[in-house]
Amino acid sequence: MRPSPIHISPPARQPCRFKQQDAPKRKALTKEQRDFLSSALRVNQSGELAATLIYSAQTPCSSRNTRTSDPMKHMYDQEEGHLKTFNAMLAKHRIRPSALYPLWQVMATGLGWGTAMMGREAAMACTEAVETEIGDHYNNQIRTLLEIISEWERDGYDVGDELKTFLSTLRRIRDEELEHLDHAVEHDAKKAEPHWLLTGAIRIGCRGAIWVSERV
Ligand SMILES: [Fe+2]
Ligand SMILES: [Fe+2]
Repeated sequence: MRPSPIHISPPARQPCRFKQQDAPKRKALTKEQRDFLSSALRVNQSGELAATLIYSAQTPCSSRNTRTSDPMKHMYDQEEGHLKTFNAMLAKHRIRPSALYPLWQVMATGLGWGTAMMGREAAMACTEAVETEIGDHYNNQIRTLLEIISEWERDGYDVGDELKTFLSTLRRIRDEELEHLDHAVEHDAKKAEPHWLLTGAIRIGCRGAIWVSERV
């Protein structure tokens, strides 16, 4: 008796769970957008490094004053958190730090130490100036990122979690920088002598450092 042939039934057709048109449309970043993101991360890392060094150089002097030491520690801890965030993002995306990283280290330490030597009000005026510039700087980045995101959404592209997370991280850090600014003003930054010269010079220096770090 001949064995009966083996019949293999074709697999039952499973209904496709997603239609082709439901798959999220993704858009690649343009070169200009990639350059913007690399430069943004690089300059942010340098800025946060500078902030940690300014605060740590000021802390030995400010810590003698119990009125300012606890908030200074809190602000330093936040700056350290910001620096860790950008260090991790640079490592993840293989972006090089600013070539002038050692120069920023020296200048930030000098600025922190110098203003601390001038007194508590001068140290607070330094914070006021630096945080004003850094707050504007983060606002500019947030604005550019929102332009990219709204253009993609308008064209029906999926923005993805990475850009959205970057945007929310920038907003959180910007808000913390503005808290530092408020703290400095509440702690007599405006009483520094001469306030206009000190804050004006530091703000020009910050703008120059930001401009250079975005490029080098
Ligand atoms: Fe910061
Ligand atoms: Fe800050």
